[in-house]
Amino acid sequence: MTPTPASPQVHDLVGIGFGPSNVALAVALREQRERAAADPAAPALSGVFLERQPEFGWHRGMLLDDATMQVSFLKDLVTTRDPASDFSFLSYLHQVGRLHDFINHKTLFPLRSEFHDYLAWCAQRVADQVGYHREVFAVEPVRDGGGRISRLDVLSRDPAGAVRRDRARNVVFAPGLTPRMPEGVEASARVWHNEHLLHRLAELGPDARPARFVVVGAGQSAAEVADHLYQRFPGARVDAVFARYGYSPSDDSSFANRIFDPEAVDTFFDAPREVKAEIMGYHRNTNYSVVDPDLIDALYRRVYQDKVRGTERLRLLNTSRVAEVDETGSGVTVTVEHLPSGKHTPIEADYVVCATGYHPSDPRGLLGEVARHCLADDAGRPMVQRDYRLATTDEVTCGIYLQGGTEHTHGISSSLLSNVAVRVGEILASIGARSTAVDAVPAQR
Ligand code: FDA
Ligand code: NAP
Repeated sequence: MTPTPASPQVHDLVGIGFGPSNVALAVALREQRERAAADPAAPALSGVFLERQPEFGWHRGMLLDDATMQVSFLKDLVTTRDPASDFSFLSYLHQVGRLHDFINHKTLFPLRSEFHDYLAWCAQRVADQVGYHREVFAVEPVRDGGGRISRLDVLSRDPAGAVRRDRARNVVFAPGLTPRMPEGVEASARVWHNEHLLHRLAELGPDARPARFVVVGAGQSAAEVADHLYQRFPGARVDAVFARYGYSPSDDSSFANRIFDPEAVDTFFDAPREVKAEIMGYHRNTNYSVVDPDLIDALYRRVYQDKVRGTERLRLLNTSRVAEVDETGSGVTVTVEHLPSGKHTPIEADYVVCATGYHPSDPRGLLGEVARHCLADDAGRPMVQRDYRLATTDEVTCGIYLQGGTEHTHGISSSLLSNVAVRVGEILASIGARSTAVDAVPAQR
């Protein structure tokens, strides 16, 4: 797949990252090529994907045993785009011999570990399109005879430092989210972001018996982490620190759920900026800083049963914030500020887990010189067109598409699975529609 400098192969698209979003795109590409094999008039685009992990993995550090999906399995990588696709979750169940068992289970929300296996099954079937162990570190412009940026070179390296250059007419960014730590708190050997929870716990070794944890945050991740640590280390105390009064339930009701529908993307995209902010405000609790109600009940049960037993192992330090984190040689001192009283209390912990959410990734970090040609709104955020293409100056004729990082333009489903199947169809249609014109002029480096 490595192009020589003399005759670089030009892909219709290069995908950066191979999480669910770009796996779905690879599946859509594969299905398009299969249609083209049967009907030469049908379009067929070429693509390659670059992923820094050694193999497919979907938030492996949070693949907790009993964590369930936050979205219906029907919002898999294909069904809402093409219910007849054999890349569906139901096809997967059929293939692995669990279809009837799943039906009898009567749930829309499989375990995350099962959905991970489904995603890996899809990724494996399109493995010819992906280079694993390839971290993209730069994107360089390639100009045509008229001086316009008509191609992009995507530079990636493997763990040994070997660099590969992939040339593309279109680049599709899907690098996922970036973990957010509380202000002034640095990740370390004792202070983790929950993204790495299972990896960090594994590093402690099978005999480790940590006795004191602090978990910061009150979203789904924080609640799952608190619950996991409580169960996994029966002797340990778990202090959950958050500013709310209590964990708040996610709004999964039917009308509110429509915010994740493809039609909602059109509504949101066309809305004025202040209306967008209002919609996000109304429906933030469908996704952010909220917890599945069943898990809230389970945590409450633990707290109550501890009270009955006279052992307070799960403590909720509500209406509080972490004011300071000091690492000592043998642990961490976390100073917790009780917000109503202003009182500061030091808590000794072995490990602190910050389940404090994520930032969207900004593609401009990798785009180097090309970033100067990307248009921004007055808050400095990238301007994105309805087809998920970055708005650029006319000097750029190639396509730079985003999967994720478009919440400010396309709404709340941007970072989620809900709309992935439909979104990749829209991106492919856009690339297909533009592809014939773009390739006319030979490119130079
Ligand atoms: P994702 O983050 O999954 O993948 C990005 C990929 O790009 C990664 O594999 C990464 O290694 C790679 N990458 C990044 N930078 C790179 C570079 N420079 N070079 C090469 N590769 C690079 N949503 C939902 O709808 N339902 C759910 O149930 C859940 N559950 C859930 C659980 C947990 C623990 C988290 C943290 C999040 C969720 N989500 C979710 C939201 C989540 O964002 C969503 O499920 C998908 O992961 C989005 O898929 P992407 O492919 O866009 O990003
Ligand atoms: P989140 O919903 O953004 O919640 C972050 C939490 O951290 C909030 O309680 C927030 O406070 C708090 N916080 C943020 N910044 C802070 C700071 N500087 N200091 C102290 N606290 C801070 O993040 P998340 O829980 O990781 O969820 C992110 C996404 O992953 C969601 O889509 C969720 O559904 C998904 N997820 C899914 C699963 C699953 O599928 N089972 C599991 C985990 C996560 P406030 O309460 O004040 O806002």
